[in-house]
Amino acid sequence: MYDMRVAFFSAKPYEMQFFNRLNTQQHEISYIDAPLYAETARLAENFEAVCVFVNDILNEHVLHLLSQQGVKLIALRCAGYNNVNLNAAKSLGIIVARVPAYSPYSVAEHTLALILALNRKIHRAFNRVREGNFALSGLIGFDLHGKTVGLIGLGKIGLVTANILFGFGCKVLGYDVQWSAEAQKMPIIPVDLPMLYQQSDIISLHCPLTPQTFHMINHEAIEQMKKGVMLINTSRGALIDTQAVIAGLKSEKIGYLGLDVYEEEADLFFEDLSDRVIQDDVFMRLLTFPNVLITGHQAFFTEEALSNIAETTLQNITFFEQKLPIPEANRLA
Ligand code: NAI
Repeated sequence: MYDMRVAFFSAKPYEMQFFNRLNTQQHEISYIDAPLYAETARLAENFEAVCVFVNDILNEHVLHLLSQQGVKLIALRCAGYNNVNLNAAKSLGIIVARVPAYSPYSVAEHTLALILALNRKIHRAFNRVREGNFALSGLIGFDLHGKTVGLIGLGKIGLVTANILFGFGCKVLGYDVQWSAEAQKMPIIPVDLPMLYQQSDIISLHCPLTPQTFHMINHEAIEQMKKGVMLINTSRGALIDTQAVIAGLKSEKIGYLGLDVYEEEADLFFEDLSDRVIQDDVFMRLLTFPNVLITGHQAFFTEEALSNIAETTLQNITFFEQKLPIPEANRLA
């Protein structure tokens, strides 16, 4: 029986049920609706651990506030950690743990869902049929078989995506800064970025957001791509310079855009804003294109992934509580 007190920010009912079911160690979890940022950090007072998600803000200032209140563990219930200043956490002696892998299949399969829906215009067909419009004009797609797909980032998700694409009969080009042994064993053709941009019919992003990858899809990158390219991003929004992509859509250089992430998503995603006026004009411009399909950061959202996220996050908290080493793959600081 443990008494670890956890402030669980950005809590949603759908994940609470998994954490409640799997909290066999009986950590004392306080579910907080609000996201974590400077103004809400005081809600973590008297908690040793905070549990956060992708859009919670853990910059130097917030980490200082948390540290002053006695927080010693940040348990991320996600894989990406671009929202955490790890150097600041280290210097404050705060341990940061994450869930390095919970289901690469969830994100890879969602990537394919976006590719297939965009290609076969399922989003448009669904609406047409509901209106009794069975005309096919404007719905023409292309065979995935024989097409060239460029994957940027060949980690866990990139490799599952590659395997699915091989099943469709695609040629897969890959770019990564560090090829794993597993990636090298697969029939992925290694290329540099200019080659990937020039040769791919579909480009899908699976690398983390870092200072090196910020806005990697910019005017210069788009310029090198094939006319009518399909661009898919299920990784992190800021890999793409959205204004450059809008220009690419307007010039028809980009033929299809599938997004599960958006660089300014923190102000929009995970909330029901259907009765409000959305103030983000860039996002609203994206929605006006018939060849753009956006989902609200739901690629991870499967039963299996949510269960694994809860299990590993709770294990990380238990390791900390028991003063056991947090597994290397899970520990960031
Ligand atoms: P991973 O760590 O297994 O793989 C990332 C790969 O990217 C590695 O092979 C790494 O060498 C490579 N990489 C790093 N810097 C690069 C660069 N500058 N250029 C090209 N490749 C580079 O990560 P995993 O699990 O495959 O996840 C990938 C990304 O997917 C995460 O960073 C996260 O941002 C995103 N993600 C999105 C989810 C969603 O719901 N939409 C859910 C889970 C992850």
